[in-house]
Amino acid sequence: MTDTVLIFDTTLRDGEQSPGCSMNLEEKLRVAAQLETLGVDIIEAGFAIASEGDFEAIVAVARQCERATVASLARAAIPDIDRAWEAVQHARAPRIHSFIATSPLHMKVKLAMEPDAVLERIRQTISHARNICPDVEWSAEDATRSDRDFLARAIEIAIDSGARTINLPDTVGYATPEDYAAMFREMIERVPNSDKAVFSTHCHNDLGLAVANSLAAVAAGARQVESTINGIGERAGNAAVEEIAMAIKVRRDALRVATNVVSTEITRSSRLVSGITGFAVQPNKAIVGANAFAHESGIHQDGMLKDSSTYEIMTPESVGLTRSSLVMGKHSGRAAFKEKLKELGYELGDNAFQDAFVRFKALADAKKAVFDEDIVALVDDEVLRGHDNIQVRDVEIHCGTKGPQRAILTLAIDGAEKTVTATGNGPVDALFKAIRELVPHDKGTLQRYEVHAVTGGTDAQAEVSVVLSEDGRSVRGTGAHQDTLVASARAYVNALNKLTVKRGRAPLRVAEAG
Ligand code: KIV
Ligand code: ZN
Repeated sequence: MTDTVLIFDTTLRDGEQSPGCSMNLEEKLRVAAQLETLGVDIIEAGFAIASEGDFEAIVAVARQCERATVASLARAAIPDIDRAWEAVQHARAPRIHSFIATSPLHMKVKLAMEPDAVLERIRQTISHARNICPDVEWSAEDATRSDRDFLARAIEIAIDSGARTINLPDTVGYATPEDYAAMFREMIERVPNSDKAVFSTHCHNDLGLAVANSLAAVAAGARQVESTINGIGERAGNAAVEEIAMAIKVRRDALRVATNVVSTEITRSSRLVSGITGFAVQPNKAIVGANAFAHESGIHQDGMLKDSSTYEIMTPESVGLTRSSLVMGKHSGRAAFKEKLKELGYELGDNAFQDAFVRFKALADAKKAVFDEDIVALVDDEVLRGHDNIQVRDVEIHCGTKGPQRAILTLAIDGAEKTVTATGNGPVDALFKAIRELVPHDKGTLQRYEVHAVTGGTDAQAEVSVVLSEDGRSVRGTGAHQDTLVASARAYVNALNKLTVKRGRAPLRVAEAG
Protein backbone atom coordinates (compact mmCIF):
# COMPACT_ATOMS: atom_id res chain seq x y z
CA MET A 1 0.00 0.00 0.00
CA THR A 2 1.26 3.50 -0.81
CA ASP A 3 1.94 5.72 2.20
CA THR A 4 0.08 9.01 2.41
CA VAL A 5 2.07 12.18 3.02
CA LEU A 6 -0.03 14.64 5.00
CA ILE A 7 -0.08 18.18 3.66
CA PHE A 8 0.07 20.76 6.44
CA ASP A 9 -0.77 24.09 4.89
CA THR A 10 0.64 27.15 6.62
CA THR A 11 -0.42 29.82 4.10
CA LEU A 12 -2.54 31.47 6.79
CA ARG A 13 0.31 31.52 9.34
CA ASP A 14 3.86 31.38 7.91
CA GLY A 15 2.61 32.74 4.58
CA GLU A 16 0.50 35.48 6.07
CA GLN A 17 3.35 36.43 8.42
CA SER A 18 5.53 37.57 5.49
CA PRO A 19 5.70 41.28 4.56
CA GLY A 20 2.72 42.51 2.58
CA CYS A 21 0.74 39.26 2.81
CA SER A 22 -1.71 40.07 5.58
CA MET A 23 -5.32 38.97 5.14
CA ASN A 24 -8.45 40.02 6.95
CA LEU A 25 -10.87 37.59 8.53
CA GLU A 26 -13.14 37.23 5.54
CA GLU A 27 -10.14 36.64 3.26
CA LYS A 28 -8.76 33.99 5.61
CA LEU A 29 -12.08 32.21 5.61
CA ARG A 30 -12.18 32.16 1.81
CA VAL A 31 -8.64 30.77 1.66
CA ALA A 32 -9.45 28.16 4.33
CA ALA A 33 -12.54 27.03 2.40
CA GLN A 34 -10.49 26.65 -0.76
CA LEU A 35 -7.74 24.78 1.14
CA GLU A 36 -10.32 22.25 2.27
CA THR A 37 -11.54 21.86 -1.31
CA LEU A 38 -7.91 21.43 -2.37
CA GLY A 39 -7.70 18.54 0.09
CA VAL A 40 -4.95 19.66 2.46
CA ASP A 41 -5.01 17.65 5.69
CA ILE A 42 -4.06 20.31 8.23
CA ILE A 43 -4.63 24.07 8.06
CA GLU A 44 -2.45 26.20 10.33
CA ALA A 45 -4.83 29.11 10.72
CA GLY A 46 -2.59 31.51 12.64
CA PHE A 47 -0.71 32.28 15.82
CA ALA A 48 -3.45 32.73 18.42
CA ILE A 49 -1.53 34.81 20.94
CA ALA A 50 -0.07 37.16 18.30
CA SER A 51 -3.15 39.42 18.16
CA GLU A 52 -6.87 39.59 18.70
CA GLY A 53 -7.30 39.46 14.90
CA ASP A 54 -5.27 36.25 14.61
CA PHE A 55 -7.23 34.71 17.46
CA GLU A 56 -10.61 35.56 15.94
CA ALA A 57 -9.52 34.28 12.54
CA ILE A 58 -8.44 30.93 14.00
CA VAL A 59 -11.76 30.57 15.84
CA ALA A 60 -13.66 31.34 12.63
CA VAL A 61 -11.57 28.94 10.53
CA ALA A 62 -11.93 26.26 13.22
CA ARG A 63 -15.72 26.64 13.18
CA GLN A 64 -15.88 26.64 9.38
CA CYS A 65 -13.68 23.63 8.57
CA GLU A 66 -15.58 20.41 8.02
CA ARG A 67 -12.78 17.98 7.41
CA ALA A 68 -9.30 19.44 7.86
CA THR A 69 -7.47 19.57 11.17
CA VAL A 70 -7.07 23.18 12.32
CA ALA A 71 -3.86 24.19 14.09
CA SER A 72 -2.63 27.26 15.92
CA LEU A 73 1.03 28.04 16.49
CA ALA A 74 2.19 28.64 20.08
CA ARG A 75 5.57 29.37 21.61
CA ALA A 76 6.77 27.03 24.33
CA ALA A 77 4.93 28.97 27.03
CA ILE A 78 1.80 28.05 28.97
CA PRO A 79 -0.15 31.26 28.14
CA ASP A 80 0.57 30.74 24.41
CA ILE A 81 -0.61 27.16 24.56
CA ASP A 82 -3.75 28.05 26.49
CA ARG A 83 -4.57 30.78 23.99
CA ALA A 84 -3.97 28.39 21.07
CA TRP A 85 -6.36 25.89 22.63
CA GLU A 86 -9.00 28.57 23.28
CA ALA A 87 -8.93 29.25 19.54
CA VAL A 88 -8.71 25.75 18.04
CA GLN A 89 -11.03 23.98 20.49
CA HIS A 90 -13.91 24.90 18.16
CA ALA A 91 -12.52 22.70 15.40
CA ARG A 92 -13.74 19.23 14.59
CA ALA A 93 -10.09 18.19 14.71
CA PRO A 94 -7.99 20.70 16.70
CA ARG A 95 -4.19 20.75 16.93
CA ILE A 96 -1.77 22.77 19.06
CA HIS A 97 1.55 23.39 17.35
CA SER A 98 4.22 24.45 19.83
CA PHE A 99 7.81 25.34 18.98
CA ILE A 100 11.08 26.25 20.61
CA ALA A 101 14.53 26.76 19.10
CA THR A 102 17.08 24.00 19.57
CA SER A 103 20.18 25.34 17.80
CA PRO A 104 23.06 26.58 20.00
CA LEU A 105 22.87 30.00 18.31
CA HIS A 106 19.14 30.49 18.88
CA MET A 107 19.20 29.12 22.43
CA LYS A 108 22.06 31.42 23.45
CA VAL A 109 21.33 34.62 21.53
CA LYS A 110 17.57 34.57 21.11
CA LEU A 111 16.22 32.63 24.06
CA ALA A 112 19.10 33.21 26.51
CA MET A 113 18.39 29.72 27.86
CA GLU A 114 20.69 26.86 28.79
CA PRO A 115 20.10 23.65 26.77
CA ASP A 116 18.87 21.81 29.87
CA ALA A 117 16.31 24.52 30.53
CA VAL A 118 15.07 24.18 26.93
CA LEU A 119 14.59 20.42 27.45
CA GLU A 120 12.71 21.07 30.65
CA ARG A 121 10.55 23.66 28.92
CA ILE A 122 9.68 21.16 26.18
CA ARG A 123 8.61 18.63 28.79
CA GLN A 124 6.44 21.13 30.68
CA THR A 125 4.76 22.76 27.71
CA ILE A 126 4.13 19.66 25.62
CA SER A 127 2.70 17.79 28.62
CA HIS A 128 0.45 20.76 29.32
CA ALA A 129 -0.65 20.96 25.67
CA ARG A 130 -1.36 17.24 25.54
CA ASN A 131 -3.48 17.45 28.69
CA ILE A 132 -5.84 19.85 26.94
CA CYS A 133 -5.63 18.79 23.29
CA PRO A 134 -5.36 15.26 21.88
CA ASP A 135 -3.33 16.34 18.84
CA VAL A 136 -0.06 18.13 19.62
CA GLU A 137 2.77 18.97 17.24
CA TRP A 138 6.20 20.04 18.39
CA SER A 139 8.71 21.93 16.24
CA ALA A 140 12.44 22.22 16.83
CA GLU A 141 13.02 25.67 15.39
CA ASP A 142 16.33 25.90 13.48
CA ALA A 143 16.58 22.10 13.64
CA THR A 144 19.02 21.97 10.73
CA ARG A 145 21.63 23.97 12.68
CA SER A 146 21.08 22.06 15.93
CA ASP A 147 23.48 19.63 17.56
CA ARG A 148 22.23 16.16 16.57
CA ASP A 149 22.67 14.61 20.04
CA PHE A 150 20.73 17.46 21.61
CA LEU A 151 18.06 17.33 18.90
CA ALA A 152 17.57 13.59 19.43
CA ARG A 153 17.15 14.16 23.17
CA ALA A 154 14.66 16.99 22.61
CA ILE A 155 12.58 14.89 20.19
CA GLU A 156 12.49 11.97 22.61
CA ILE A 157 11.24 14.25 25.39
CA ALA A 158 8.62 15.87 23.14
CA ILE A 159 7.25 12.46 22.10
CA ASP A 160 7.41 11.19 25.65
CA SER A 161 5.43 14.25 26.78
CA GLY A 162 2.69 13.59 24.21
CA ALA A 163 3.63 15.15 20.86
CA ARG A 164 2.19 13.14 17.96
CA THR A 165 3.96 15.08 15.23
CA ILE A 166 7.61 16.11 15.25
CA ASN A 167 8.48 18.90 12.86
CA LEU A 168 12.12 19.57 12.01
CA PRO A 169 12.20 22.94 10.24
CA ASP A 170 14.96 24.27 8.07
CA THR A 171 14.06 27.68 9.49
CA VAL A 172 16.78 29.61 7.68
CA GLY A 173 16.75 27.65 4.40
CA TYR A 174 20.31 26.43 4.93
CA ALA A 175 20.07 22.68 4.32
CA THR A 176 20.84 20.74 1.17
CA PRO A 177 18.64 17.75 0.26
CA GLU A 178 21.36 15.32 1.39
CA ASP A 179 21.79 17.05 4.79
CA TYR A 180 18.11 17.29 5.39
CA ALA A 181 17.37 13.68 4.47
CA ALA A 182 20.27 12.48 6.61
CA MET A 183 18.91 14.37 9.62
CA PHE A 184 15.49 12.71 9.27
CA ARG A 185 17.01 9.28 8.74
CA GLU A 186 19.22 9.69 11.80
CA MET A 187 16.44 10.99 14.06
CA ILE A 188 13.94 8.34 12.99
CA GLU A 189 16.55 5.64 13.56
CA ARG A 190 18.10 6.77 16.81
CA VAL A 191 15.25 8.34 18.82
CA PRO A 192 13.90 5.33 20.77
CA ASN A 193 10.21 6.37 20.64
CA SER A 194 10.27 7.78 17.07
CA ASP A 195 7.67 5.21 15.95
CA LYS A 196 5.06 7.01 18.11
CA ALA A 197 5.18 10.20 16.02
CA VAL A 198 4.81 11.40 12.44
CA PHE A 199 7.92 13.26 11.27
CA SER A 200 7.31 16.50 9.42
CA THR A 201 9.27 18.81 7.10
CA HIS A 202 9.12 22.61 7.09
CA CYS A 203 11.49 24.21 4.59
CA HIS A 204 12.26 27.81 3.77
CA ASN A 205 13.47 28.68 0.31
CA ASP A 206 16.50 30.90 0.91
CA LEU A 207 18.68 28.79 -1.41
CA GLY A 208 15.79 27.76 -3.68
CA LEU A 209 15.88 24.25 -2.17
CA ALA A 210 12.69 24.18 -0.10
CA VAL A 211 10.80 21.71 -2.30
CA ALA A 212 13.87 19.55 -2.99
CA ASN A 213 14.64 19.40 0.73
CA SER A 214 11.05 18.52 1.65
CA LEU A 215 10.96 15.68 -0.90
CA ALA A 216 14.35 14.38 0.24
CA ALA A 217 12.97 14.21 3.79
CA VAL A 218 9.90 12.35 2.52
CA ALA A 219 12.21 9.80 0.90
CA ALA A 220 13.91 9.50 4.31
CA GLY A 221 10.65 8.77 6.12
CA ALA A 222 8.87 12.10 6.79
CA ARG A 223 5.11 11.77 6.36
CA GLN A 224 3.96 15.36 6.78
CA VAL A 225 5.05 18.31 4.63
CA GLU A 226 4.48 21.90 5.75
CA SER A 227 4.08 24.25 2.82
CA THR A 228 2.20 27.26 1.49
CA ILE A 229 0.22 28.08 -1.64
CA ASN A 230 2.48 29.76 -4.22
CA GLY A 231 5.34 29.25 -1.74
CA ILE A 232 4.60 32.53 0.05
CA GLY A 233 6.32 33.02 3.40
CA GLU A 234 9.13 34.62 5.35
CA ARG A 235 12.00 35.99 3.20
CA ALA A 236 12.27 33.73 0.10
CA GLY A 237 9.15 31.86 1.19
CA ASN A 238 8.25 28.28 2.09
CA ALA A 239 8.02 25.09 0.05
CA ALA A 240 5.10 25.47 -2.37
CA VAL A 241 2.13 23.12 -1.83
CA GLU A 242 1.44 22.86 -5.55
CA GLU A 243 5.01 21.82 -6.36
CA ILE A 244 5.11 19.21 -3.59
CA ALA A 245 1.72 17.78 -4.58
CA MET A 246 2.49 17.61 -8.30
CA ALA A 247 6.00 16.21 -7.81
CA ILE A 248 4.50 13.44 -5.69
CA LYS A 249 1.74 12.83 -8.24
CA VAL A 250 3.84 12.97 -11.41
CA ARG A 251 6.84 11.10 -9.94
CA ARG A 252 4.94 8.53 -7.94
CA ASP A 253 7.22 5.92 -9.51
CA ALA A 254 10.22 7.48 -7.79
CA LEU A 255 8.70 8.81 -4.55
CA ARG A 256 6.25 5.96 -3.90
CA VAL A 257 3.91 8.04 -1.75
CA ALA A 258 0.65 9.90 -2.36
CA THR A 259 -1.14 12.98 -1.00
CA ASN A 260 -4.83 13.79 -0.58
CA VAL A 261 -4.49 16.91 -2.74
CA VAL A 262 -7.12 17.31 -5.47
CA SER A 263 -4.73 18.52 -8.15
CA THR A 264 -7.43 20.09 -10.32
CA GLU A 265 -8.01 22.64 -7.52
CA ILE A 266 -4.40 23.87 -7.63
CA THR A 267 -4.80 26.72 -10.13
CA ARG A 268 -7.90 28.03 -8.39
CA SER A 269 -6.11 27.98 -5.00
CA SER A 270 -3.09 29.75 -6.43
CA ARG A 271 -5.18 32.47 -8.06
CA LEU A 272 -7.22 33.00 -4.93
CA VAL A 273 -4.15 33.46 -2.72
CA SER A 274 -2.39 35.68 -5.21
CA GLY A 275 -5.57 37.74 -5.70
CA ILE A 276 -6.08 38.19 -1.97
CA THR A 277 -2.47 38.91 -1.01
CA GLY A 278 -1.63 40.85 -4.17
CA PHE A 279 1.51 38.71 -4.46
CA ALA A 280 1.78 38.06 -8.18
CA VAL A 281 3.03 34.64 -9.23
CA GLN A 282 6.21 34.86 -11.31
CA PRO A 283 5.46 33.84 -14.92
CA ASN A 284 7.96 30.97 -14.96
CA LYS A 285 6.91 29.58 -11.57
CA ALA A 286 6.51 25.79 -11.66
CA ILE A 287 2.91 24.48 -11.89
CA VAL A 288 1.05 27.80 -11.51
CA GLY A 289 3.12 30.39 -13.43
CA ALA A 290 1.50 31.91 -16.52
CA ASN A 291 4.16 30.25 -18.70
CA ALA A 292 4.15 26.87 -16.94
CA PHE A 293 2.29 25.32 -19.87
CA ALA A 294 3.22 27.78 -22.64
CA HIS A 295 5.26 26.55 -25.60
CA GLU A 296 6.99 29.26 -27.56
CA SER A 297 9.74 27.68 -29.62
CA GLY A 298 8.84 26.26 -33.04
CA ILE A 299 10.38 22.87 -32.32
CA HIS A 300 8.41 22.54 -29.09
CA GLN A 301 5.18 23.68 -30.73
CA ASP A 302 5.66 21.19 -33.51
CA GLY A 303 6.23 18.39 -30.99
CA MET A 304 3.20 19.45 -28.96
CA LEU A 305 0.95 19.36 -32.02
CA LYS A 306 2.08 15.80 -32.77
CA ASP A 307 1.86 14.53 -29.18
CA SER A 308 1.63 16.76 -26.09
CA SER A 309 3.68 14.32 -24.02
CA THR A 310 6.74 15.30 -26.08
CA TYR A 311 7.13 18.45 -23.99
CA GLU A 312 4.51 18.20 -21.22
CA ILE A 313 5.01 15.92 -18.22
CA MET A 314 1.54 16.76 -16.91
CA THR A 315 -1.50 18.27 -18.56
CA PRO A 316 -2.70 21.81 -17.80
CA GLU A 317 -6.09 20.25 -17.03
CA SER A 318 -4.53 18.11 -14.27
CA VAL A 319 -3.77 21.28 -12.29
CA GLY A 320 -7.16 22.80 -13.07
CA LEU A 321 -6.01 25.11 -15.83
CA THR A 322 -8.63 25.73 -18.48
CA ARG A 323 -7.61 27.28 -21.77
CA SER A 324 -8.19 31.02 -21.81
CA SER A 325 -11.52 31.45 -23.52
CA LEU A 326 -13.59 34.28 -24.80
CA VAL A 327 -16.50 34.23 -22.40
CA MET A 328 -19.00 36.90 -22.97
CA GLY A 329 -19.75 40.26 -24.38
CA LYS A 330 -22.12 43.08 -23.55
CA HIS A 331 -25.18 41.05 -24.50
CA SER A 332 -24.52 38.33 -21.96
CA GLY A 333 -27.11 38.18 -19.25
CA ARG A 334 -27.24 37.40 -15.58
CA ALA A 335 -27.72 33.65 -16.02
CA ALA A 336 -24.67 33.32 -18.27
CA PHE A 337 -22.60 35.42 -15.88
CA LYS A 338 -23.71 33.32 -12.91
CA GLU A 339 -22.84 30.14 -14.81
CA LYS A 340 -19.41 31.52 -15.66
CA LEU A 341 -18.77 32.45 -12.03
CA LYS A 342 -19.68 28.92 -10.99
CA GLU A 343 -17.27 27.49 -13.53
CA LEU A 344 -14.52 29.75 -12.17
CA GLY A 345 -15.25 28.62 -8.62
CA TYR A 346 -17.15 31.62 -7.23
CA GLU A 347 -20.35 31.47 -5.28
CA LEU A 348 -21.38 35.01 -4.50
CA GLY A 349 -24.15 36.18 -2.21
CA ASP A 350 -26.96 38.23 -3.82
CA ASN A 351 -25.45 41.65 -3.13
CA ALA A 352 -21.93 40.69 -4.16
CA PHE A 353 -23.33 39.07 -7.32
CA GLN A 354 -25.29 42.19 -8.20
CA ASP A 355 -22.23 44.43 -7.69
CA ALA A 356 -20.05 42.09 -9.74
CA PHE A 357 -22.65 41.95 -12.52
CA VAL A 358 -22.86 45.75 -12.73
CA ARG A 359 -19.08 45.91 -13.03
CA PHE A 360 -19.06 43.11 -15.61
CA LYS A 361 -21.57 45.04 -17.75
CA ALA A 362 -19.44 48.20 -17.51
CA LEU A 363 -16.37 46.19 -18.50
CA ALA A 364 -18.15 44.47 -21.37
CA ASP A 365 -19.27 47.89 -22.66
CA ALA A 366 -15.71 49.20 -22.55
CA LYS A 367 -13.96 46.09 -23.83
CA LYS A 368 -15.01 43.92 -26.75
CA ALA A 369 -13.60 40.63 -25.54
CA VAL A 370 -14.04 39.60 -21.92
CA PHE A 371 -11.82 36.68 -20.92
CA ASP A 372 -11.82 34.39 -17.87
CA GLU A 373 -8.86 36.35 -16.47
CA ASP A 374 -10.92 39.57 -16.69
CA ILE A 375 -13.74 38.02 -14.70
CA VAL A 376 -11.39 36.63 -12.06
CA ALA A 377 -9.71 40.05 -11.65
CA LEU A 378 -13.04 41.84 -11.52
CA VAL A 379 -14.69 39.51 -9.03
CA ASP A 380 -11.63 39.29 -6.76
CA ASP A 381 -11.49 43.06 -6.78
CA GLU A 382 -15.19 43.43 -6.01
CA VAL A 383 -15.52 40.67 -3.44
CA LEU A 384 -12.31 41.45 -1.60
CA ARG A 385 -13.32 45.03 -1.13
CA GLY A 386 -16.83 44.26 0.12
CA HIS A 387 -15.96 44.60 3.83
CA ASP A 388 -13.43 47.44 3.60
CA ASN A 389 -14.25 50.41 5.81
CA ILE A 390 -12.84 52.81 3.25
CA GLN A 391 -14.18 52.45 -0.28
CA VAL A 392 -13.47 54.33 -3.51
CA ARG A 393 -16.66 55.95 -4.82
CA ASP A 394 -15.52 58.30 -7.59
CA VAL A 395 -12.30 59.27 -9.34
CA GLU A 396 -11.87 62.15 -11.76
CA ILE A 397 -8.45 63.02 -13.16
CA HIS A 398 -7.19 65.97 -15.17
CA CYS A 399 -3.90 65.13 -16.77
CA GLY A 400 -1.76 65.78 -19.83
CA THR A 401 1.33 67.76 -20.76
CA LYS A 402 0.24 70.93 -18.95
CA GLY A 403 0.53 70.40 -15.21
CA PRO A 404 -0.16 70.43 -12.40
CA GLN A 405 -2.27 67.30 -12.74
CA ARG A 406 -5.40 67.23 -10.61
CA ALA A 407 -7.44 64.50 -8.94
CA ILE A 408 -10.98 64.86 -7.60
CA LEU A 409 -11.64 61.90 -5.36
CA THR A 410 -14.66 60.72 -3.38
CA LEU A 411 -14.19 58.05 -0.72
CA ALA A 412 -16.78 56.47 1.54
CA ILE A 413 -15.22 56.28 5.00
CA ASP A 414 -17.28 54.17 7.40
CA GLY A 415 -20.25 54.88 5.17
CA ALA A 416 -19.85 58.69 4.98
CA GLU A 417 -18.85 60.14 1.61
CA LYS A 418 -16.07 62.73 1.47
CA THR A 419 -14.65 64.50 -1.58
CA VAL A 420 -11.37 66.34 -2.04
CA THR A 421 -9.34 67.86 -4.88
CA ALA A 422 -5.55 67.57 -4.90
CA THR A 423 -2.83 68.47 -7.38
CA GLY A 424 0.40 66.59 -7.90
CA ASN A 425 3.38 65.83 -9.97
CA GLY A 426 1.53 63.56 -12.37
CA PRO A 427 -1.93 61.99 -12.03
CA VAL A 428 -0.88 59.15 -9.70
CA ASP A 429 0.82 61.60 -7.34
CA ALA A 430 -2.28 63.83 -7.36
CA LEU A 431 -4.52 60.85 -6.70
CA PHE A 432 -2.46 59.48 -3.82
CA LYS A 433 -2.22 62.98 -2.29
CA ALA A 434 -6.01 63.17 -2.39
CA ILE A 435 -6.21 59.85 -0.53
CA ARG A 436 -3.73 61.13 2.07
CA GLU A 437 -5.86 64.23 2.58
CA LEU A 438 -9.00 62.21 3.18
CA VAL A 439 -7.31 59.51 5.24
CA PRO A 440 -4.22 60.99 6.92
CA HIS A 441 -1.52 58.40 7.56
CA ASP A 442 1.62 60.44 8.08
CA LYS A 443 3.82 57.53 9.04
CA GLY A 444 2.70 55.31 6.17
CA THR A 445 5.01 55.31 3.17
CA LEU A 446 4.46 53.95 -0.32
CA GLN A 447 7.10 51.29 -0.98
CA ARG A 448 6.01 49.97 -4.33
CA TYR A 449 3.57 50.75 -7.12
CA GLU A 450 3.15 48.24 -9.95
CA VAL A 451 0.75 48.04 -12.86
CA HIS A 452 0.14 45.13 -15.17
CA ALA A 453 -2.44 44.31 -17.81
CA VAL A 454 -4.79 41.41 -17.03
CA THR A 455 -4.96 40.40 -20.71
CA GLY A 456 -3.47 41.66 -23.99
CA GLY A 457 -4.85 44.61 -26.00
CA THR A 458 -5.05 48.34 -25.36
CA ASP A 459 -8.49 47.91 -23.77
CA ALA A 460 -7.15 45.42 -21.18
CA GLN A 461 -8.04 45.84 -17.52
CA ALA A 462 -5.23 47.19 -15.38
CA GLU A 463 -4.30 45.36 -12.20
CA VAL A 464 -2.44 47.61 -9.79
CA SER A 465 -0.56 46.50 -6.71
CA VAL A 466 0.88 48.82 -4.05
CA VAL A 467 2.90 48.14 -0.91
CA LEU A 468 2.49 50.53 2.01
CA SER A 469 4.55 50.33 5.16
CA GLU A 470 4.18 51.86 8.59
CA ASP A 471 6.18 51.22 11.76
CA GLY A 472 7.86 48.14 10.32
CA ARG A 473 4.61 46.57 9.12
CA SER A 474 3.95 46.38 5.41
CA VAL A 475 0.80 45.57 3.54
CA ARG A 476 -0.03 45.02 -0.09
CA GLY A 477 -3.20 46.29 -1.72
CA THR A 478 -4.56 45.44 -5.14
CA GLY A 479 -7.13 46.94 -7.46
CA ALA A 480 -8.41 46.14 -10.92
CA HIS A 481 -10.28 48.34 -13.39
CA GLN A 482 -10.23 49.19 -17.06
CA ASP A 483 -9.04 52.67 -16.01
CA THR A 484 -5.51 52.44 -14.57
CA LEU A 485 -6.06 55.38 -12.24
CA VAL A 486 -9.26 53.97 -10.79
CA ALA A 487 -7.40 50.67 -10.27
CA SER A 488 -4.60 52.66 -8.59
CA ALA A 489 -7.02 54.35 -6.19
CA ARG A 490 -8.62 51.01 -5.35
CA ALA A 491 -5.24 49.38 -4.74
CA TYR A 492 -4.02 52.17 -2.46
CA VAL A 493 -7.27 52.24 -0.50
CA ASN A 494 -7.24 48.44 -0.20
CA ALA A 495 -3.75 48.67 1.33
CA LEU A 496 -4.91 51.39 3.72
CA ASN A 497 -7.74 49.14 4.91
CA LYS A 498 -5.24 46.35 5.54
CA LEU A 499 -2.94 48.73 7.40
CA THR A 500 -5.80 49.55 9.74
CA VAL A 501 -6.24 45.83 10.44
CA LYS A 502 -2.50 45.43 11.05
CA ARG A 503 -2.35 48.38 13.44
CA GLY A 504 -4.23 46.21 15.93
CA ARG A 505 -1.49 43.60 15.77
CA ALA A 506 1.61 44.31 17.88
CA PRO A 507 4.72 42.97 16.12
CA LEU A 508 6.09 40.00 18.07
CA ARG A 509 9.65 40.25 19.31
CA VAL A 510 12.00 38.59 16.82
CA ALA A 511 12.95 36.12 19.50
CA GLU A 512 9.39 34.94 19.70
CA ALA A 513 8.22 35.06 16.14
CA GLY A 514 9.40 31.70 14.84
O1 KIV B 1 10.39 28.28 10.12
C1 KIV B 1 10.13 27.84 11.25
O2 KIV B 1 10.97 27.34 11.98
C2 KIV B 1 8.75 27.95 11.70
C3 KIV B 1 8.38 27.23 12.95
C4 KIV B 1 7.69 28.13 13.91
C5 KIV B 1 7.57 26.02 12.64
O3 KIV B 1 7.93 28.56 11.04
ZN1 ZN C 1 8.65 28.79 8.94
